[in-house]
Amino acid sequence: MKVEIFKDKETLYRSVSDFYVKAINEKPNMTLGLATGTTPIPLYKNLIESYKNKQVSFKDITTFNLDEYIGLDKTHKASYAYFMKNQLFDHIDIKLENTFIPSGILEPQVAISEFQKALDAHQVDIQLLGLGSNGHIGFNEPGTPFNSTTHQTDLALSTIEDNSRMFESIKDVPTQSITMGIQDIMRASKIILIATGKQKAEAVYGMIHGPVDENLPASILQKHNDVVIYLDEAAASKLK
Ligand code: F6R
Repeated sequence: MKVEIFKDKETLYRSVSDFYVKAINEKPNMTLGLATGTTPIPLYKNLIESYKNKQVSFKDITTFNLDEYIGLDKTHKASYAYFMKNQLFDHIDIKLENTFIPSGILEPQVAISEFQKALDAHQVDIQLLGLGSNGHIGFNEPGTPFNSTTHQTDLALSTIEDNSRMFESIKDVPTQSITMGIQDIMRASKIILIATGKQKAEAVYGMIHGPVDENLPASILQKHNDVVIYLDEAAASKLK
Protein backbone atom coordinates (compact mmCIF):
# COMPACT_ATOMS: atom_id res chain seq x y z
CA MET A 1 0.00 0.00 0.00
CA LYS A 2 1.39 3.37 -0.92
CA VAL A 3 0.04 6.21 1.24
CA GLU A 4 0.31 9.82 0.11
CA ILE A 5 -0.66 12.63 2.46
CA PHE A 6 -1.39 16.13 1.16
CA LYS A 7 -1.51 19.45 3.02
CA ASP A 8 -4.55 20.64 1.10
CA LYS A 9 -7.26 19.12 -1.03
CA GLU A 10 -6.40 21.13 -4.10
CA THR A 11 -2.91 19.61 -4.34
CA LEU A 12 -4.33 16.18 -3.58
CA TYR A 13 -6.89 16.32 -6.39
CA ARG A 14 -4.41 17.87 -8.80
CA SER A 15 -2.03 14.99 -8.17
CA VAL A 16 -4.80 12.39 -8.72
CA SER A 17 -6.10 14.04 -11.88
CA ASP A 18 -2.58 14.41 -13.32
CA PHE A 19 -2.13 10.70 -12.71
CA TYR A 20 -5.39 9.90 -14.57
CA VAL A 21 -4.60 12.17 -17.51
CA LYS A 22 -1.20 10.53 -17.94
CA ALA A 23 -2.59 7.00 -17.56
CA ILE A 24 -5.42 7.61 -20.07
CA ASN A 25 -3.00 9.12 -22.59
CA GLU A 26 -0.80 6.06 -22.25
CA LYS A 27 -3.76 3.69 -22.71
CA PRO A 28 -6.66 5.59 -24.34
CA ASN A 29 -8.98 2.56 -24.35
CA MET A 30 -8.62 1.72 -20.70
CA THR A 31 -11.38 0.52 -18.40
CA LEU A 32 -11.98 2.69 -15.37
CA GLY A 33 -13.84 1.75 -12.23
CA LEU A 34 -15.61 4.87 -10.94
CA ALA A 35 -17.13 6.00 -7.67
CA THR A 36 -19.78 8.53 -6.69
CA GLY A 37 -20.33 10.52 -3.49
CA THR A 38 -18.59 13.70 -2.43
CA THR A 39 -15.04 12.36 -2.70
CA PRO A 40 -14.61 12.10 -6.50
CA ILE A 41 -16.31 15.41 -7.39
CA PRO A 42 -13.12 17.56 -7.47
CA LEU A 43 -11.36 14.85 -9.48
CA TYR A 44 -14.16 14.79 -12.04
CA LYS A 45 -14.06 18.61 -12.21
CA ASN A 46 -10.33 18.50 -12.98
CA LEU A 47 -10.81 15.79 -15.60
CA ILE A 48 -13.53 17.82 -17.32
CA GLU A 49 -11.19 20.79 -17.37
CA SER A 50 -8.38 18.65 -18.86
CA TYR A 51 -10.81 17.37 -21.51
CA LYS A 52 -11.86 20.93 -22.38
CA ASN A 53 -8.19 21.92 -22.64
CA LYS A 54 -7.70 19.00 -25.05
CA GLN A 55 -5.24 17.27 -22.74
CA VAL A 56 -7.25 14.05 -22.61
CA SER A 57 -10.03 12.23 -24.44
CA PHE A 58 -12.46 9.66 -23.11
CA LYS A 59 -13.85 8.53 -26.45
CA ASP A 60 -12.45 4.99 -26.16
CA ILE A 61 -12.82 4.63 -22.39
CA THR A 62 -15.16 2.13 -20.74
CA THR A 63 -16.36 2.71 -17.18
CA PHE A 64 -17.94 0.64 -14.44
CA ASN A 65 -19.48 2.34 -11.46
CA LEU A 66 -19.37 0.71 -8.08
CA ASP A 67 -22.96 0.93 -7.04
CA GLU A 68 -26.53 2.22 -7.29
CA TYR A 69 -29.46 2.61 -4.91
CA ILE A 70 -32.26 0.12 -5.40
CA GLY A 71 -35.47 1.93 -6.33
CA LEU A 72 -33.94 5.04 -7.87
CA ASP A 73 -34.32 5.61 -11.58
CA LYS A 74 -31.58 7.40 -13.50
CA THR A 75 -33.75 10.55 -13.58
CA HIS A 76 -33.80 10.73 -9.77
CA LYS A 77 -31.38 13.46 -8.71
CA ALA A 78 -29.87 11.34 -5.93
CA SER A 79 -29.32 8.29 -8.15
CA TYR A 80 -25.75 7.48 -9.00
CA ALA A 81 -26.64 7.26 -12.69
CA TYR A 82 -27.85 10.88 -12.54
CA PHE A 83 -24.76 11.87 -10.56
CA MET A 84 -22.38 10.40 -13.15
CA LYS A 85 -24.09 12.14 -16.06
CA ASN A 86 -24.25 15.41 -14.21
CA GLN A 87 -20.77 15.37 -12.67
CA LEU A 88 -18.81 13.80 -15.53
CA PHE A 89 -20.31 12.02 -18.53
CA ASP A 90 -22.31 14.96 -19.94
CA HIS A 91 -19.16 17.10 -20.02
CA ILE A 92 -16.68 14.77 -21.74
CA ASP A 93 -16.58 12.77 -24.98
CA ILE A 94 -17.27 9.37 -23.44
CA LYS A 95 -19.80 7.16 -25.26
CA LEU A 96 -22.66 6.52 -22.87
CA GLU A 97 -23.04 2.97 -24.20
CA ASN A 98 -19.57 2.28 -22.75
CA THR A 99 -20.60 3.34 -19.23
CA PHE A 100 -21.95 0.66 -16.92
CA ILE A 101 -23.84 1.33 -13.69
CA PRO A 102 -26.02 -1.27 -11.96
CA SER A 103 -29.69 -0.56 -12.66
CA GLY A 104 -31.66 0.64 -9.65
CA ILE A 105 -35.02 -0.20 -11.17
CA LEU A 106 -34.70 -3.57 -12.89
CA GLU A 107 -35.50 -6.62 -10.81
CA PRO A 108 -32.31 -6.76 -8.64
CA GLN A 109 -31.24 -10.27 -9.73
CA VAL A 110 -31.51 -9.20 -13.39
CA ALA A 111 -29.60 -5.96 -12.72
CA ILE A 112 -26.90 -7.89 -10.84
CA SER A 113 -26.38 -10.51 -13.52
CA GLU A 114 -26.37 -7.94 -16.36
CA PHE A 115 -23.77 -5.84 -14.55
CA GLN A 116 -21.62 -8.82 -13.55
CA LYS A 117 -21.63 -10.20 -17.08
CA ALA A 118 -20.36 -6.89 -18.49
CA LEU A 119 -17.81 -6.47 -15.70
CA ASP A 120 -16.46 -10.00 -16.11
CA ALA A 121 -15.84 -9.31 -19.79
CA HIS A 122 -13.42 -6.50 -18.87
CA GLN A 123 -10.25 -6.01 -16.90
CA VAL A 124 -10.58 -2.83 -14.85
CA ASP A 125 -7.28 -0.95 -15.19
CA ILE A 126 -7.83 1.58 -12.41
CA GLN A 127 -10.54 1.35 -9.77
CA LEU A 128 -11.35 4.57 -7.95
CA LEU A 129 -12.67 4.25 -4.40
CA GLY A 130 -13.97 6.54 -1.71
CA LEU A 131 -14.17 5.29 1.87
CA GLY A 132 -17.23 5.04 4.08
CA SER A 133 -16.81 6.38 7.62
CA ASN A 134 -17.52 2.76 8.68
CA GLY A 135 -14.80 1.41 6.39
CA HIS A 136 -17.04 0.38 3.49
CA ILE A 137 -15.83 0.35 -0.10
CA GLY A 138 -18.50 0.49 -2.76
CA PHE A 139 -21.55 -0.39 -0.69
CA ASN A 140 -19.80 -3.40 0.80
CA GLU A 141 -20.75 -2.75 4.38
CA PRO A 142 -18.93 -4.23 7.41
CA GLY A 143 -19.43 -8.00 7.47
CA THR A 144 -19.55 -8.43 3.68
CA PRO A 145 -17.57 -11.54 2.68
CA PHE A 146 -14.27 -10.73 1.00
CA ASN A 147 -15.14 -13.18 -1.80
CA SER A 148 -18.34 -11.32 -2.73
CA THR A 149 -19.20 -10.42 -6.32
CA THR A 150 -21.93 -7.97 -7.40
CA HIS A 151 -24.81 -8.28 -4.96
CA GLN A 152 -27.78 -6.64 -3.26
CA THR A 153 -26.98 -5.04 0.10
CA ASP A 154 -28.77 -3.53 3.06
CA LEU A 155 -27.19 -0.16 3.75
CA ALA A 156 -25.74 0.32 7.23
CA LEU A 157 -27.52 2.91 9.38
CA SER A 158 -24.32 4.99 9.42
CA THR A 159 -24.29 5.00 5.59
CA ILE A 160 -27.95 6.05 5.46
CA GLU A 161 -27.14 8.87 7.89
CA ASP A 162 -23.97 9.90 6.02
CA ASN A 163 -25.79 9.96 2.68
CA SER A 164 -29.01 11.60 3.89
CA ARG A 165 -27.49 14.97 2.90
CA MET A 166 -28.27 14.08 -0.72
CA PHE A 167 -31.99 13.62 0.05
CA GLU A 168 -34.78 15.83 1.35
CA SER A 169 -35.12 13.75 4.47
CA ILE A 170 -33.45 10.67 5.93
CA LYS A 171 -36.72 8.79 5.29
CA ASP A 172 -36.11 9.21 1.55
CA VAL A 173 -32.74 7.44 1.57
CA PRO A 174 -33.10 3.99 0.00
CA THR A 175 -32.20 1.21 2.42
CA GLN A 176 -30.75 -1.12 -0.20
CA SER A 177 -28.31 -0.97 -3.05
CA ILE A 178 -26.57 -3.06 -5.66
CA THR A 179 -22.80 -2.99 -5.35
CA MET A 180 -19.80 -4.42 -7.07
CA GLY A 181 -18.42 -7.04 -4.66
CA ILE A 182 -15.11 -6.95 -2.83
CA GLN A 183 -13.67 -9.69 -5.02
CA ASP A 184 -14.60 -7.64 -8.11
CA ILE A 185 -12.86 -4.57 -6.68
CA MET A 186 -9.74 -6.57 -5.85
CA ARG A 187 -9.53 -7.83 -9.46
CA ALA A 188 -8.66 -4.32 -10.70
CA SER A 189 -5.07 -3.92 -11.85
CA LYS A 190 -4.64 -0.76 -9.81
CA ILE A 191 -6.71 0.81 -7.03
CA ILE A 192 -6.79 4.49 -6.07
CA LEU A 193 -8.58 5.35 -2.82
CA ILE A 194 -9.18 8.94 -1.77
CA ALA A 195 -10.25 9.92 1.75
CA THR A 196 -10.49 13.42 3.14
CA GLY A 197 -11.79 14.91 6.38
CA LYS A 198 -11.53 13.87 10.01
CA GLN A 199 -14.74 11.82 9.84
CA LYS A 200 -12.75 9.29 7.80
CA ALA A 201 -9.70 9.19 10.11
CA GLU A 202 -10.80 6.16 12.15
CA ALA A 203 -11.61 4.08 9.05
CA VAL A 204 -8.34 5.19 7.43
CA TYR A 205 -6.42 3.97 10.50
CA GLY A 206 -8.15 0.57 10.40
CA MET A 207 -7.69 0.24 6.65
CA ILE A 208 -3.94 0.83 6.90
CA HIS A 209 -2.87 -0.43 10.35
CA GLY A 210 -5.71 -2.71 11.40
CA PRO A 211 -6.12 -6.45 10.88
CA VAL A 212 -7.51 -7.56 7.54
CA ASP A 213 -11.03 -8.18 8.73
CA GLU A 214 -14.42 -8.35 7.03
CA ASN A 215 -15.71 -5.95 9.68
CA LEU A 216 -13.59 -3.26 8.05
CA PRO A 217 -14.02 -3.97 4.34
CA ALA A 218 -11.31 -1.53 3.18
CA SER A 219 -8.68 -3.46 5.18
CA ILE A 220 -8.64 -6.04 2.34
CA LEU A 221 -6.77 -3.45 0.27
CA GLN A 222 -3.66 -4.37 2.30
CA LYS A 223 -3.66 -7.57 0.21
CA HIS A 224 -3.71 -5.84 -3.20
CA ASN A 225 -0.32 -5.30 -4.79
CA ASP A 226 -0.99 -1.90 -6.40
CA VAL A 227 -2.98 0.45 -4.18
CA VAL A 228 -2.37 4.15 -3.70
CA ILE A 229 -4.19 5.89 -0.85
CA TYR A 230 -4.54 9.67 -1.19
CA LEU A 231 -5.27 11.41 2.11
CA ASP A 232 -5.51 14.94 3.38
CA GLU A 233 -4.02 15.69 6.80
CA ALA A 234 -7.37 15.40 8.60
CA ALA A 235 -8.05 11.91 7.23
CA ALA A 236 -4.46 10.92 8.06
CA SER A 237 -4.59 12.42 11.57
CA LYS A 238 -4.86 9.08 13.41
CA LEU A 239 -2.10 7.30 11.49
CA LYS A 240 1.05 6.20 13.29
C1 F6R B 1 -19.80 5.58 -3.90
C2 F6R B 1 -19.36 4.53 -2.99
C3 F6R B 1 -19.10 4.76 -1.55
C4 F6R B 1 -18.47 6.12 -1.23
C5 F6R B 1 -18.30 6.30 0.28
C6 F6R B 1 -17.74 7.66 0.61
O1 F6R B 1 -19.94 5.10 -5.21
O2 F6R B 1 -19.22 3.43 -3.42
O3 F6R B 1 -18.28 3.74 -1.04
O4 F6R B 1 -17.23 6.20 -1.87
O5 F6R B 1 -19.53 6.14 0.90
O6 F6R B 1 -18.70 8.63 0.28
P1 F6R B 1 -18.35 10.19 0.25
O7 F6R B 1 -17.36 10.36 -0.83
O8 F6R B 1 -19.65 10.86 -0.08
O9 F6R B 1 -17.80 10.52 1.58
